[in-house]
Amino acid sequence: MDIELRNIHKWFGSIHANNDITVTLKGGRIIGVLGENGAGKSTLMKILSGFQPADSGEISIDGKPAVYHGPQAAIANGIGMLQQDPLDVPAFSVLENFLFGLSLNRKEARKRLVEISQRFGFDLDPDTPVANLTIAQRQQQEIVRLLALGVKTLILDEPTTGISAEQKQLLFDTLQSLARQHGMTVLLVSHKLEDVIALCDEVIVLRAGKLVGDRQMPATTQQLVRLMFGQEFAPPTRERVPLGEPVLRLDGVLLRDKRLTIDTCTFQVRAGEVVGLAGLDGSGQELLIRACVGLVKPNRGSIVLAGQDMTGKPYRHYLQCGIAFGAAGRLEEGLIAGLTLTEHVALANETDPLIDCDAAREHTANQLALYNVRGRAEDPIEQLSGGNQQRLLMALMPEEPLAMVLEQPTRGLDVDSASWIWQQLLARRASGTAIVFSSADLDELVAYSDRILVFYAGQVYEIDDASTVTIDDLGHLIGGEFEGSGAGRRLA
Ligand SMILES: Nc1ncnc2c1ncn2[C@@H]1O[C@H](COP(=O)(O)OP(=O)(O)OP(=O)(O)O)[C@@H](O)[C@H]1O
Ligand SMILES: [Mg+2]
Repeated sequence: MDIELRNIHKWFGSIHANNDITVTLKGGRIIGVLGENGAGKSTLMKILSGFQPADSGEISIDGKPAVYHGPQAAIANGIGMLQQDPLDVPAFSVLENFLFGLSLNRKEARKRLVEISQRFGFDLDPDTPVANLTIAQRQQQEIVRLLALGVKTLILDEPTTGISAEQKQLLFDTLQSLARQHGMTVLLVSHKLEDVIALCDEVIVLRAGKLVGDRQMPATTQQLVRLMFGQEFAPPTRERVPLGEPVLRLDGVLLRDKRLTIDTCTFQVRAGEVVGLAGLDGSGQELLIRACVGLVKPNRGSIVLAGQDMTGKPYRHYLQCGIAFGAAGRLEEGLIAGLTLTEHVALANETDPLIDCDAAREHTANQLALYNVRGRAEDPIEQLSGGNQQRLLMALMPEEPLAMVLEQPTRGLDVDSASWIWQQLLARRASGTAIVFSSADLDELVAYSDRILVFYAGQVYEIDDASTVTIDDLGHLIGGEFEGSGAGRRLA
């Protein structure tokens, strides 16, 4: 199935999110959709998959004009999209979700579901509630559902965040088989250039709403970066800074949540030190991070911040004593949907319940410029692209905290924005701030950490000197292969 987009325009207020995009997407190929944060990738994919209408422009499918409104109508035209946040109904079983939109009875549907799952080696039990599935399994169930609905073009927006290397390989094998054996078109939006290089036959590149490139693969990372930004970036450099006094210390803590236990962990972070937390989603790093900021109370053991006992104290107290926290679920924890950018800046800075609106507006304008946030101060926060939300979160952080505790601070960011965030963090580190951060990106962990803690099912392994570890070693450790690794020692 060939898709032609002609002169697609989309405005959001004064933002020209898609500016005259004309491109042909040929069937049977895997096409990477690249571009910096806010370039208009998600917007274009949502237009193609019926989640939002274009302001003007045409779409034709196999040479015939196609006009459709809504995702169901797009699916009927053979185009389906895997959303970044799955649209399934968590309380329902895999089978019940699968049935949605299909004109099959339960028995036939079950047969179909099992058949398609087996074809791609997916591990999907029809009777499991979707709430119990991993992110990778939810993607698999959505792919199976779209295939059963007869989709010929599959769009994936950042599908590899939060899934393991093995699951990623299975997803990639599936996409390859869909394109090569079944003649489907796959559109892959991704900031992970190594994934794009491994998988795609072609890339299209957006910049500030416009299509600025369309090239056949293979290409090197440098070539792709140049296409995206018009320039290349030097690899990250950082100086070693002398470490200061211990800032944050966890002593023999026992942490527990619904799924796992971290049994008796002791570790400390010193002023100017960067500690990276590695592990697949849900391996315990989230629990430790939340304990470091007072959101999870230890069942045993103590937490000390700059000599002061913090054990059992509330989150607010941690903030007052100099901890800054950045959560991964930007819109769930860090930022508040519905509030404007100005309101966020005002709330982060004011201790007085009466907010001086003019001052807040001026301060917001300064912070937006300083942190290079692309967005309007009076817009609600959810309208910013992912990368700009992350920049705003940085703008809300205090200037010189004792410690910054950050969950996946560069998740979903383009190469340029990610290195920009790290410049900000390293500048704070140079003035003595301790940094604890988690990441799914092994390169990032090795590049920026002084020390790495690896999490696996609540077990913790410490790599004392991050410069001695390779990406490969780290990959094995994340998979739980602690025994026989000479890189460090068990902590818990
Ligand atoms: N619903 C909306 N309302 C207002 N502005 C929006 C809306 N959706 C997107 N935008 C704006 O349109 C521009 C393009 O956003 P889009 O989400 O398409 O970017 P993207 O390329 O997917 O970026 P990222 O890599 O950060 O996900 C951004 O400036 C964004 O703020
Ligand atoms: Mg996007």
